Amino acid sequence: MSASKAVNFPIERTQHSRLSETDFSNLEFGTVNSDHMFVVDYKKGEWVDPKIIPFQNISVSPACSSLHYGQTVFEGMKAFRAPNGDLLVFRPEKHLERMNNSNRRLCIPEIPAEYFYDAIDALVKLDQDWIPNQEGCSLYLRPFIFANDPFIGVKPSSAYKFMIFTCPVAGYYKGTVKVIIESDFVRASPGGIGAAKTGGNYAASLLPAKLAADKGYQQILWTDSKEHKYFEESGTMNLMFVINDVLITPSLDGSILPGITRDTILTIAKDWGVKVEERRVSVEEVITAFNNGTLQDAFGTGTAATITQIAEIHHNGKDMVLPPVAGRTLSNKLNQTIVDLKNGIGEDKYNWVHRI
Ligand code: COI
Repeated sequence: MSASKAVNFPIERTQHSRLSETDFSNLEFGTVNSDHMFVVDYKKGEWVDPKIIPFQNISVSPACSSLHYGQTVFEGMKAFRAPNGDLLVFRPEKHLERMNNSNRRLCIPEIPAEYFYDAIDALVKLDQDWIPNQEGCSLYLRPFIFANDPFIGVKPSSAYKFMIFTCPVAGYYKGTVKVIIESDFVRASPGGIGAAKTGGNYAASLLPAKLAADKGYQQILWTDSKEHKYFEESGTMNLMFVINDVLITPSLDGSILPGITRDTILTIAKDWGVKVEERRVSVEEVITAFNNGTLQDAFGTGTAATITQIAEIHHNGKDMVLPPVAGRTLSNKLNQTIVDLKNGIGEDKYNWVHRI
């Protein structure tokens, strides 16, 4: 993690830890919170009153501008414990960079590096017993910032609250997913907010995702807003295909979230000598590849999902059933490599793992 000046903030420890009541063998994503959270306010151009306090509800005005107009940004990161006991966080710099890119798009002040890094270190250290030991599990970190002006005129807020809380989690999806190609609704369009990690993009996905779930599909594959011809991303993940041994992923054209797992995978795969293409990928190309037997793999990538392989893609009344997961050499190897790296196993040749 790059050097930043350290901030001192008070830590108020909880008197009632919920740790012993938590069933770590049955974790669901996002249902349990650890004991503490970080909070700092932004008022009159200054960051004030940073602190770590017991996890608790917060109070805002009913006129709180983010409740009405969605001026909010969030991130998702994961912390792990290495075999030697070190506490590890994967690529925090990249998450801060993306968070501040999102903030700029939403007219939210940038988070100073020292609050981001010091808060993560202090929180993970304090709640380290919440890092699950179970395979595939981790401590998910949720930094977020929201506009906090008690004012319902439409303008950038002058007050914000930046917070981080953490949750012990299992994988976001349990196993492979069946997906449907979306040809009616749109997630984001050029010039919009698709590249920002902001609530509105997820709100836009809820109805199409619900309609897909009603038909038995766990996710949708978004297509472009103009023609519904080119793939964009999947609900909570970026999207990758392997066709004829080439790893292909939609290029970041402004309407797609620049995933950090996406970047991790592309970097590793290129390093292994895999042919990688970041470009427009059409629905037609994938259907043709399926029909002529060259579609070897399709998978989603994301912090919460890591690598989630796609079992079936539905389009226009037809199901494309992809090859069995056991034979998907590239995504299986990538997944194992990333899981190992995050858990402090093997060489961290890219210097991605932050040790607290
Ligand atoms: C993540 O992968 O960290 C996400 O933010 C996806 C999701 C849980 C909304």
